Amino acid sequence: KNIVILISGAGSNMAAIVRAAEREHWADAPPRGLGARVAAVISNRPDAAGLALAQAAGIATAVVDHRAHPSREAFDTALAAAIEPHAPTLVVLAGFMRILTPGFVARYAGRMLNIHPSLLPAFPGLHTHQRAIDMGCRVAGATVHHVTAELDHGHIAAQAVVPVLPGDTADTLAARVRTQEHLIYPRAVAETLRNL
Ligand code: GRF
Repeated sequence: KNIVILISGAGSNMAAIVRAAEREHWADAPPRGLGARVAAVISNRPDAAGLALAQAAGIATAVVDHRAHPSREAFDTALAAAIEPHAPTLVVLAGFMRILTPGFVARYAGRMLNIHPSLLPAFPGLHTHQRAIDMGCRVAGATVHHVTAELDHGHIAAQAVVPVLPGDTADTLAARVRTQEHLIYPRAVAETLRNL
């Protein structure tokens, strides 16, 4: 089975999934791998730091720059053209910061995951950590969910909860949440793959 991971930035969730996939090589050492290989990492931003991480891991990379495409439809068509040669069982959005068209979402229905840095259905969209702090939330977290046409609204595959601590800033809370993201995303990918 092949996975294609889409990124826009640092790629720390992508790297966590790559590490989990590599554990396949030590099949008797739990936790086991994903049962799939990361076939490609594709970024919409040429300067995404995650591209170098993927290359260092020996993974094929590509850039489909959204600024080079006149519409969301044109970008998504180019994105699908970059993805399809890798014949993905699962498409994994990992810090991929583009809204996808309904046509693209339909193509990968049931086999595309996203990670969102809040406890959905609370705080879809941007600036989740600051919004959670401003609301006085005592807990925050991350959600892995299936991608549907409505942003941040698909069926939930995994969640992790962290405390919001006195004195937290968006950055300190984001760091606490991200540590959990790196644990739940590979697990949710493995579990979803088992059913595909
Ligand atoms: C993560 O916090 C993810 O939840 C959000 O964007 C961030 C991506 O970080 N969608 P990274 O690129 O995986 O390091």
